[in-house]
Amino acid sequence: MRRPASIAPPKGKLGVLLPGMGAVSTTFMAGVELVRRGESVPVGSLTQLGTVRLGKRTEGRTPKIKDLVPLAKLDDLVFGGWDVFPDDAYQAAVKAGVLDAKDLTKVQKFLKTIKPMKAAFDQNFVKNLQGTNVKKGKTKFDLAEQIREDIRDFKKKNKCDRLVMVWCASTEVFLKAEDVHKDLPSFEKAMKANHPAIAPSMLYAWAAISEGVPFANGAPNLTVDIPALEEYAKAKNVPIGGKDFKTGQTLLKTVLAPAFKARMLGLNGWFSTNILGNRDGEVLEDPGSFKTKEESKLGALEYILQPSIYPELYGKIHHKVRINYYPPRGDNKEGWDNIDIFGWLGYPMQIKVDFLCRDSILAAPIVLDLALFFDLAQRAGMRGIQEWLSFYFKSPMCARELYPEHDLFIQSMKLKNTLRWMVGEELITHLGAEYYD
Ligand SMILES: NC(=O)c1ccc[n+]([C@@H]2O[C@H](COP(=O)([O-])OP(=O)(O)OC[C@H]3O[C@@H](n4cnc5c(N)ncnc54)[C@H](O)[C@@H]3O)[C@@H](O)[C@H]2O)c1
Repeated sequence: MRRPASIAPPKGKLGVLLPGMGAVSTTFMAGVELVRRGESVPVGSLTQLGTVRLGKRTEGRTPKIKDLVPLAKLDDLVFGGWDVFPDDAYQAAVKAGVLDAKDLTKVQKFLKTIKPMKAAFDQNFVKNLQGTNVKKGKTKFDLAEQIREDIRDFKKKNKCDRLVMVWCASTEVFLKAEDVHKDLPSFEKAMKANHPAIAPSMLYAWAAISEGVPFANGAPNLTVDIPALEEYAKAKNVPIGGKDFKTGQTLLKTVLAPAFKARMLGLNGWFSTNILGNRDGEVLEDPGSFKTKEESKLGALEYILQPSIYPELYGKIHHKVRINYYPPRGDNKEGWDNIDIFGWLGYPMQIKVDFLCRDSILAAPIVLDLALFFDLAQRAGMRGIQEWLSFYFKSPMCARELYPEHDLFIQSMKLKNTLRWMVGEELITHLGAEYYD
């Protein structure tokens, strides 16, 4: 990829389109509105609070990211979405039970104006959901064409200059890439033939790319992680990325595992279990959807610890991940980790992590950052997979010949260096030899 010669300014409105108007989406939209009104602080958002150091440490240049690169302003965001339930964003937020009534009441009027468009849905892909707000069409291709129409209508009605789509809908059953995903003609043929390997999320992704809209995947579904859509995104100059927001347990995993590796401490096993009681938890009760999530959560350790390079430290790891649907907890997940490590002469030690987190509170700022960074990438002419945004994903997409980078610190450095690179600032290597000349 070549360095952008220039970045188009973010003039006009940016429409943020959200397939899935559940806990994460509504917490995101309510939060943006509260921040816009000066009622709250966008905690957790790099685009709003983060800084980038430029030049030498002695120069004292540390602008905010939003002052370094031309990002869309929160005031210029408008929201739209699709859901299988007809609830408006206020009703959906009340049902999701993430935000307190005192916060929701302040933005009730605003949220009530956001009504979901009819979803492209197929219960074969999300077994534990049944809804009425669903599109009808003879083929999957017809449904995708209807999504394209929704996108165009939304843009016109809301007078948007640009759009971006972030998948915040449920986790679909596990799919592996197969022949119909290998190139665009096969993919489009399969849509027309109602092939079972074409998931609803793929229809949204195809529609977004067709309309020149960047697409980020917040769930672990295969969706846009297939050669056909990668190729299509490149051809249409559209940024794409995923998969699966990196929020709670995996965030900590990708912080702790790099620490063990940096110190050459060994690992015998890592047992992760969760209880959560939101709709996401209910969907993940189905073994098909759980398998998709499990694969996404399991990947990180293998890539970070590189057992083939360090067989004596990481050659025999027992890594288990469990998610248990437990309604009393709602969106307030509890994630436990039992980590069996070993040190000098093989002596064993244990670490226990108990993270009482709030799923959607952690995910909402990620949706915001992804929307703003994907829009930035498009204005900078960066097409195809945006690997520099791996920072936000549990299962980051990358070029076929690469392995994904999971280490949060490498991801953070990559993200910030990409921002420096985009605006022609020197990259930071952390060598610092010049200070000692
Ligand atoms: N910390 C987090 O919250 C977190 C982290 C990583 C990934 N995720 C993923 O983000 C997604 C959203 O999480 P959530 O807690 O908001 O879930 P949720 O169940 O509250 O919301 C998802 C919504 O998507 C809708 N939906 C399902 N299929 C659809 C389709 N084909 N088209 C349109 N709408 C559809 C559902 O009706 C539901 O309202 C899930 O896939 C979840 O696994 C969440």
